[in-house]
Amino acid sequence: MLISDRYPYLDFQCHVYGECFRGTAYVDTGFNGGIVVPESCWSRLWPVYAEESMVLGDGSATVTPSWRGLVRIGDQSFQVRVVCIGDEFIIGREVIDRARLCLHNGEHLVLDFDGPDPRLRPCIFRLTPYLPGKPIEEVKRELGLDDVIKMASNENVLGPSPKAIEAIRNLAPEVFYYPEGSAPELRKALAEKWSVTPEQVILGNGSDELLVYIGLAVLNPGDQIIQADPTFSEYRYVATLCGAEVVSIPMKDLTHDLAAMKEAVTGRTKLLFIANPNNPTGTIVTRQEVETLWDGLPQHVTVVFDEAYSEYAESEDYPDGLQYVREDRNVIVLRTFSKAYALAGLRVGYAIASEEIVGYLNKLRQPFNVNSVAQAAAVASLRDTDQVPRTQKLNSEGKRYLCEEFDRLGLKYAPSDANFIFVDTGKDSKEVFQALMQKGVIVRTGDIFGYPTHIRVTIATPAMNQRFIRELKTALHTDPANAQR
Ligand SMILES: Cc1ncc(COP(=O)(O)O)c(C=O)c1O
Repeated sequence: MLISDRYPYLDFQCHVYGECFRGTAYVDTGFNGGIVVPESCWSRLWPVYAEESMVLGDGSATVTPSWRGLVRIGDQSFQVRVVCIGDEFIIGREVIDRARLCLHNGEHLVLDFDGPDPRLRPCIFRLTPYLPGKPIEEVKRELGLDDVIKMASNENVLGPSPKAIEAIRNLAPEVFYYPEGSAPELRKALAEKWSVTPEQVILGNGSDELLVYIGLAVLNPGDQIIQADPTFSEYRYVATLCGAEVVSIPMKDLTHDLAAMKEAVTGRTKLLFIANPNNPTGTIVTRQEVETLWDGLPQHVTVVFDEAYSEYAESEDYPDGLQYVREDRNVIVLRTFSKAYALAGLRVGYAIASEEIVGYLNKLRQPFNVNSVAQAAAVASLRDTDQVPRTQKLNSEGKRYLCEEFDRLGLKYAPSDANFIFVDTGKDSKEVFQALMQKGVIVRTGDIFGYPTHIRVTIATPAMNQRFIRELKTALHTDPANAQR
């Protein structure tokens, strides 16, 4: 969008948390009113109200919809929505016309950007609580069903290793002790498994917690993260929490568009997230694609490979993020015991990076962030050499079965290297979700990821997979008006 034929019009002051910036307001013929602001002011505003940036056309302009601010004209003030294009704010023309009528010589149009509640950090208003998959007990209660299966949260229905269960039982009488905060035994076991030093490993209360540490260590208000769209929602959460801007790059054929992600890097970009395999699509970036990322990537950009589902990846060209850590690149790899190791309820994930990066993250770690039972179960799981292969076999067979059934039904799906499949039902996914839930099968709708006809289904046991397909067939042929009956 071009702004042309503008002329200087009014002086204005822009207040961002008490800091004052001055500039010139103008009226654009045939368009809105505009305010040119210094870059310093603009970047200060990002953490205040920006929802999401969109790159326009050739990438020369960035639009941020719906910044909310208070405009004061003389002694009147009113809320406005402000759009930002490049380093200019566009506000309603009527605002500027009104200002022209109201202001007298030497007065300023005043824009105030303060949080709506002065007690709180502004980012709180931009955060939305995490929406988990619907729990089994809730569905049983709500629908009066006895037999409900959950294929919504990518858990491993095979359950934990018997060795992990034994370790959990054995440790139960000891839980009055605080755990060993730095989890030395588990870090040592992981370091041996992945041929890194224990100082390169840090444990988290799930990898979710480590994402927060990464954000807190790296992101200042006004910084940017780059992520794919759609992807795992926690990257946005962490960026928002830290007052950073989220730059979402649409996927190409439901896979990360690494070239476009790299092109979106600016001087403000601090983190680039690659969920590999990606949630919710299950797709991967290949080794070759990652190789093209390094050339010219600035040093201030840390790449986070979130490999929560790595154990499920079957594609030959699936890259091992740890290779890039060993090559001493500016990389953090995240893994978890929640998926293939089936310890989601205990909350234990880990990051591997350089000793220097792990040292920084360690400063942020809560003293006893991973509990003793979780540590013991994770160590025992690593000693069970059967757990992962058994899981992989079940998943691989389940995936083949589900894909064949989707093919038979003529449904398109993303090629999955994970323990779930993102499939296009061709119908409103909320209706399909409801119809499945009435029959006791819980899946995830695609609308929350911006794909209103997709669902995400976790690959489970053969019996569960078959039940899902049976009910899906019914759901696809059910008139939504009758589905609730
Ligand atoms: C891509 C991805 N990363 C990380 C996580 C979080 O895993 P954890 O249970 O270790 O916090 C998930 C959970 O669903 C995920 O899908």
